Amino acid sequence: MTGVDARFTASEKISSRLLKSALKQSYDPWTDIDWDAPLVENAPFLPLHRSTLYGTDLWDEMTPEQRVQLTRHESASIASSGIWFEMILMQLVLRAAYDMDPRTAHMHWALTEIADECHHSIMFGKALARTGMPPHRHSKMFNELGRIFKSITWGPSSYAAILVAEEILDEAQREMMTDETVEPLVRRVSQIHVTEEARHIRFAREQIADMMSQGMDPAELLAQQTLCAVVAFAIVESLISPGVYAAGGLDSKRAVAAARNNPNMHKTRAEWGKKVVEFLAENNLIGGPAAGLWRASHLMSEADVERGLIGRTVDTGTATALKAAAGVLPNIPGLRKLARGTLAGIGSGPGKQPKPDAEPKSSSSLSITDPVRAIAESAPAQALRRATDFLPWGLIGDPLAPSKRPRKKPESSKSVHRLAVADIQRLTSDSVAVTFDVPDDLRDTFRYIQGQHITIEAMVNGEKVRRSYSVCAPVSAQTLRVGVKKVADGVFSSYVVDTLQIGDEVDVVPPAGRFYTELDSVNALHYVGLAGGSGITPILSILASVLEEEPNSRFTLWYANRDRDSVMFFDEIAELHQRYGDRFTVLHILEDGGHSGSGFANGRIDAERLSTLAESGDVAHWFLCGPAPMTEGAREALRAKGVDDQAIHLELFNTIGLVPAATQAQPAQEAEVAAGAQLRFSFEGADEAIDMRDGELLLDAALRTGQDIPWSCREAVCGMCRAKLCEGQATPMMENHALTPNEVDAGYILTCQTRAASKKLRLDFDD
Ligand code: FES
Ligand SMILES: [Fe+2]
Ligand SMILES: [Fe+2]
Repeated sequence: MTGVDARFTASEKISSRLLKSALKQSYDPWTDIDWDAPLVENAPFLPLHRSTLYGTDLWDEMTPEQRVQLTRHESASIASSGIWFEMILMQLVLRAAYDMDPRTAHMHWALTEIADECHHSIMFGKALARTGMPPHRHSKMFNELGRIFKSITWGPSSYAAILVAEEILDEAQREMMTDETVEPLVRRVSQIHVTEEARHIRFAREQIADMMSQGMDPAELLAQQTLCAVVAFAIVESLISPGVYAAGGLDSKRAVAAARNNPNMHKTRAEWGKKVVEFLAENNLIGGPAAGLWRASHLMSEADVERGLIGRTVDTGTATALKAAAGVLPNIPGLRKLARGTLAGIGSGPGKQPKPDAEPKSSSSLSITDPVRAIAESAPAQALRRATDFLPWGLIGDPLAPSKRPRKKPESSKSVHRLAVADIQRLTSDSVAVTFDVPDDLRDTFRYIQGQHITIEAMVNGEKVRRSYSVCAPVSAQTLRVGVKKVADGVFSSYVVDTLQIGDEVDVVPPAGRFYTELDSVNALHYVGLAGGSGITPILSILASVLEEEPNSRFTLWYANRDRDSVMFFDEIAELHQRYGDRFTVLHILEDGGHSGSGFANGRIDAERLSTLAESGDVAHWFLCGPAPMTEGAREALRAKGVDDQAIHLELFNTIGLVPAATQAQPAQEAEVAAGAQLRFSFEGADEAIDMRDGELLLDAALRTGQDIPWSCREAVCGMCRAKLCEGQATPMMENHALTPNEVDAGYILTCQTRAASKKLRLDFDD
């Protein structure tokens, strides 16, 4: 293996710049902190909502003093882990500096970074001593892993490890330093560390981007991705030692279990990991068979997973690399077998037991779920597990215990699940909010992003009917609640509003849709929602999420209805207005008028009314949802005022009967429909082929193979039938309200809107 330095390519320019910055703004923890200042009694050492138990039943049972005490131990654990990371990091940087030319800025910077870290570890150690907190040590296993890692790692993963540790701490400490409830000494320590770490983060990022831009062969890429995933997992898992709970006077077993299953703790990790995960994904360091660890660590949110930050497939290049790697491994008993098991796991379908000597299956699209399991369940991994039985696996979580990992066929994120109705709340005379009970084992499957919809399937009048409804709860709640309004002649909406009862079970397809923008707590944006009728449902979820997740952003809602009595969620909107004050402006626009006063206007959402808002030029995102005449009209009015298409997000009602004639399917135009075409497609790793009927929609042909291809609206609205056209030609989409121009340019089509235009076509529903 080569040393870190062999690929150490940072320019002198960057090192010089960082050195100058270090000269201007460096601290001395001995003198720049008032170590004698009295500590503020009962002040937490972390913002309370960042405690690992915040939001759990156990948290509710704790006294205010216990909560503060727990944050003190948790903060001490973070500081102790910080010292551990810094010890590893100093050795990595020193290895890099070992062969450097001592005249270069490059070497001076490396040594400056080591000096900074020396100061930081002293600072954290002094803070522990001053506050009377114990050094919470992580497990022996992580300690040993760190010892091995710092000696063997090479290339970008060295810097990725540094970066993951620094960026997670950075995010945590940014909050600690600005939160006025947090104890002042802790805030000062955090502020010094954040300021100095900014330079280190910058340097590590430059290094990684530079190394990755030079390319590497598949085997090395695989090794780098695997190291990255394992190290990130170890770092985040070791941040809070299980010992903090007993030290805080709690039942350790119960507290560990509560923390591990705490959605709030997962959210915290995802928020702290967001930037670094995004950066590493951009630089191709997230992938390979160990990629599942990113998800398991919760550093990657489900939204990121949805966005494809964990590649859903491993390409043949990776499989070839694995094969090559297996071939050159030394013949240590079990080691080759482990590698082959990984290969076989990649090549085999879900649930199949890999044969020990199986060669990788030749396929261009291979599942990564099984390799992780293949490794975890392989004989060497299990032997390692038995050899480390002395470790407190129950407390730290056992990644290799097959009995605790139910061997379940991985389900398509879009397959149907039976859910019970937990609550029905009447909103107006013709609308209800329905909440579904999501069992624990389906929580991840039904995790949604603000603005997404679910599809409900039920037998109505002896016929199987599917409709999509938007989730109306904020993203933080993860409550599967939808708003349904009865529409004229709408059998399904009438069934939901009039017949559905609490306790009934219906089939539900998990959340989908792209009617949202990424939220970021640093954003300070102005969002506008233009809703009509039940078009409020996704917008309610979006606005509540924006106001909650982005403390510096504001939201303007214009909500059009016939009259006051037909306004859905009136009280909830008023309550949000009260809670967020100036950050949330609401205007109810009533067609029949009859209501005056602030917050009400008569008429419709039209071009004239929109012009002032559009001309202000300060709106970053426009979310439009409602009947097509309203949303299409608003979109045209905004375009006419020069609003960029990228800033306009539009969702139509996706209920048959409300889609206006203009969006109904039209005969294929422009391209000739090809007779006697053959369709090949891949779906969930399976390859299928079918002879198409003349003029048949691609979706219908694919469904005839018996594959459970997702679809919902068949009206170009929900986007669930999306596939990538890899070969051949399809007719132009008759309608498209779901795909962005970029997606269309990249070759995606809605299969419910297209037919064959060449004799042979190939689609990929997994892409
Ligand atoms: S099924 Fe909804 S867009 Fe095709
Ligand atoms: Fe540091
Ligand atoms: Fe650092």
